[in-house]
Amino acid sequence: MGDRLGSNGPVVVTGATGFLGKTVLAELIAGGDIEVIALVRATSRSDAERRGAETLAAALDRLPTATERRRVHWVRADIIETRLGLGDAAWRDLAGRTGDIIHCAASVKFDLPLPEAQRINVDGTANLLELATEAMWHGGFGCFHHVSTAYAAGMASGPVDADHLPGDRAGNFRNNYERTKARAERLLRSQQDVPIAIYRPSIVGGRTDTGRTDNWNVLYAPMRMMANGQLPMVPGSCGAPLDTVGVDYVARGLVHLAGTDRRGTVGHHLTAGRAFTVGQLVATTGRISRLFDRTPSEVRLLGPGRWRLVTAAIRLAARAPRWAGDIQRWGRLADRGLRTVTPYTPYTEVGCRFHNRRERAVLEDAGIMMPAAATYLETIVSFAVGTDFGRTPIVDRSAPFPTVGS
Ligand SMILES: NC(=O)c1ccc[n+]([C@@H]2O[C@H](COP(=O)([O-])OP(=O)(O)OC[C@H]3O[C@@H](n4cnc5c(N)ncnc54)[C@H](OP(=O)(O)O)[C@@H]3O)[C@@H](O)[C@H]2O)c1
Repeated sequence: MGDRLGSNGPVVVTGATGFLGKTVLAELIAGGDIEVIALVRATSRSDAERRGAETLAAALDRLPTATERRRVHWVRADIIETRLGLGDAAWRDLAGRTGDIIHCAASVKFDLPLPEAQRINVDGTANLLELATEAMWHGGFGCFHHVSTAYAAGMASGPVDADHLPGDRAGNFRNNYERTKARAERLLRSQQDVPIAIYRPSIVGGRTDTGRTDNWNVLYAPMRMMANGQLPMVPGSCGAPLDTVGVDYVARGLVHLAGTDRRGTVGHHLTAGRAFTVGQLVATTGRISRLFDRTPSEVRLLGPGRWRLVTAAIRLAARAPRWAGDIQRWGRLADRGLRTVTPYTPYTEVGCRFHNRRERAVLEDAGIMMPAAATYLETIVSFAVGTDFGRTPIVDRSAPFPTVGS
């Protein structure tokens, strides 16, 4: 078995059309001679090719060269289907060619019912593990690189290492996303047949250099509401960490560790370690929004008891009869805002810190670093507010990030 990523044959990538997967794809292309088989959901072979061409151009942020196009093969597949929905011959062919697997595909929705989240995040991983097992049987398989999340550690508190997995009880997790990501890890960690490596990013944000992102979930949903003056209060404490890493840092870190550290430790944290806080997010969003002539919310941070009272009052007002006039209108508006932020509010009270000393040292040696937390926060908020959360096209792609008046 060759140790270098790609030396055993093509690297099979899932989720390449997604936020992180696209950046991983670009990183593999930058790696010189790695061949990629990208599994993509599509209605037909030509639809897979079409989605592939669009994804590759978006990943590279330019038209790919003919050589780059030849290095990526787009295969129509659905990870929730048995054998990925492939026929016998296609399945055997894929298994025979698979050198390594980088499994990025998942549902990152926090509010999915458990069976749905299980199907994509756990059963989908089991189907990829079957591909890896079959590829092992063909010989020359390298490693199953699984993208998990630092929050698979659930409600753990204090310093947490990248192998920590709580028991499979709902109360140990904030939502079904965390719980099913932990289940997928347990499945991989409990088998002996296939070499595995698990990467646990924390919250993934825009690029470290420009702040650029096309993913406006998680951190960006409350950020947008704050910038629009629609979030007067949130639960949480000022000093609670919001561990966030740049999508380029995660992709580069993953590809580097995957190529150098494959038979070492199983779990790798791709986290900031020294994170910015809820208070810093609120203050920075307010300050940068004002620079862009917005009128942001004056956000108050509430403890859990007061937040419960506020949410109960909003829900009551939203259900008020029509004759209640302004109260009903206010309630409905506030309730809509509440629904947007509720999936994310458990992350404003995280009581653990993700140990990353080993991974950080390895990556720093390779020149892969996260900027200081406050600098990074400034970059991503500037991009988000400066592009009106993706609505304004970026005119000068070489500019570090949108500046006031640009
Ligand atoms: N975003 C974060 O803050 C964050 C933080 C920590 C860890 N992670 C992990 O990083 C990974 C990527 O997340 P992301 O933010 O990039 O998510 P994303 O943008 O929603 O991308 C998800 C990807 O999975 C694919 N996918 C979903 N269901 C599929 C199926 N049944 N068959 C084939 N492909 C399927 C999607 O394909 P379509 O284009 O067809 O929908 C898409 O390419 C996930 O494993 C996630 O748990 C993310």
